[in-house]
Amino acid sequence: MRILVIGGGGREHALVWKLAQYHKPVFCAPGNAGIAKQAECVEKSPADIRGLADFARQKRIDLTIVGPEAPLVAGIADEFRKQGLVIFGPGAQAARLEGDKSFAKRLMQEEGIPTASFEIFDDYEKAASHLRTRKLPVVIKASGLAAGKGAIITKERDEAERVLREIMKEARFGPAGRVVVIEDFLTGEEASIIGLCDGEHIEMLLPSQDHKPLLDGDKGPNTGGMGAYAPAPVITSDLAHQIEKTVFQPLLAGLQKRNIDYRGVIYAGMMLTGDGPYVLEFNCRFGDPETQAVLPLLKNDLAMLAFACANGKLVDQHADWFRQSALCVIAASGGYPGAYKKGVVISGDLAGDDDSIVFHAGTRLEGKQIVTSGGRVLGVTGIGNDLQMAQEKAYQAMARIRFEGMFFRHDIGRRGLERLGLKPFFL
Ligand code: AMP
Ligand code: GLY
Repeated sequence: MRILVIGGGGREHALVWKLAQYHKPVFCAPGNAGIAKQAECVEKSPADIRGLADFARQKRIDLTIVGPEAPLVAGIADEFRKQGLVIFGPGAQAARLEGDKSFAKRLMQEEGIPTASFEIFDDYEKAASHLRTRKLPVVIKASGLAAGKGAIITKERDEAERVLREIMKEARFGPAGRVVVIEDFLTGEEASIIGLCDGEHIEMLLPSQDHKPLLDGDKGPNTGGMGAYAPAPVITSDLAHQIEKTVFQPLLAGLQKRNIDYRGVIYAGMMLTGDGPYVLEFNCRFGDPETQAVLPLLKNDLAMLAFACANGKLVDQHADWFRQSALCVIAASGGYPGAYKKGVVISGDLAGDDDSIVFHAGTRLEGKQIVTSGGRVLGVTGIGNDLQMAQEKAYQAMARIRFEGMFFRHDIGRRGLERLGLKPFFL
């Protein structure tokens, strides 16, 4: 198959790494310095929907896979399908599952999918007076896309009022904050479940766990994700079945009822509460960095699964898994998630080995040198027969890499190891 991947981060490197094992050529727009080793990078922005469709037609692409949410929400899949191109990703209507939290929350409520109880507002005064009646902590969310930063947990009344004002009146997240969701704060352990959907069936991939806070011990501000591992032992097979029955099946039925033909990834961000699993959010794309931990464990050809979904034929396909664990640690630029330097030279061993893979996220080529170009720079994935070995392999590979200001968390996988009674490996 001739394949085009859209995006240029760690998730897209993991996609390309997997796809290129079976298919040639693989193109990636725009890609990065690591992706360039396995795919032909194309200088096109993911926002350039027309340009990408033209490219796909000219290059006779058989399958396009979209990494980030923004082009999906903007309707890239509708445009490709209109032009007769096969694309793995939901159309704009379906991508509202991520792009419009008020839509997702109402759908969950109407279909009886467990989620935090909530109210939706487009009027600031009404939202502010409702907020005063709510018990603390309370979660305030911009309904639109806010690059993963739009959910804010507030513990004090003053802070809650300030956050609401910033979102609704001062447009902290731009038009994404015109509508807000105000919801109850849930407690428990989080887990991510990625499902592949062909409109009628969903194939759940291995459960994983992200680490959103910046620092060890889950301290510091939230980030795009500082590491992930799979499978997450907190999701037992009973719990996975329960999530399939209480979340994915009613979701799919609800989408069908609304004439939404969903062909792409449905990512469920779950909170495992004392009352069972609750949905925190849906995403319409693969998780980042979860994908860098999940895909190395997939036995089969991802393109066949994605192609089957795009054509409504997932029933013929199943995902098979290596009985191992994978753990990805993110190396970030000093200052991230705030301001950071770019163009810093990366040195050391970026080749990985049999038990480790170095996925590039924010990197680019400058002459012959690989330099940083983002906050999250690399995702180093270790693979082992158990989670402890996977962690050891990831941190050993990380120790062979250097760049000025580089930092990473030292406790990726801690919850999983504790649950399994295994000792963590620390440098
Ligand atoms: P979201 O963008 O909706 O996934 O939220 C980002 C993060 O905020 C989640 O991964 C959780 O850590 C946290 N979060 C969101 N909603 C809630 C909630 N209702 N209760 C507790 N934490 C939440
Ligand atoms: N890792 C969280 C996300 O991809 O949204």
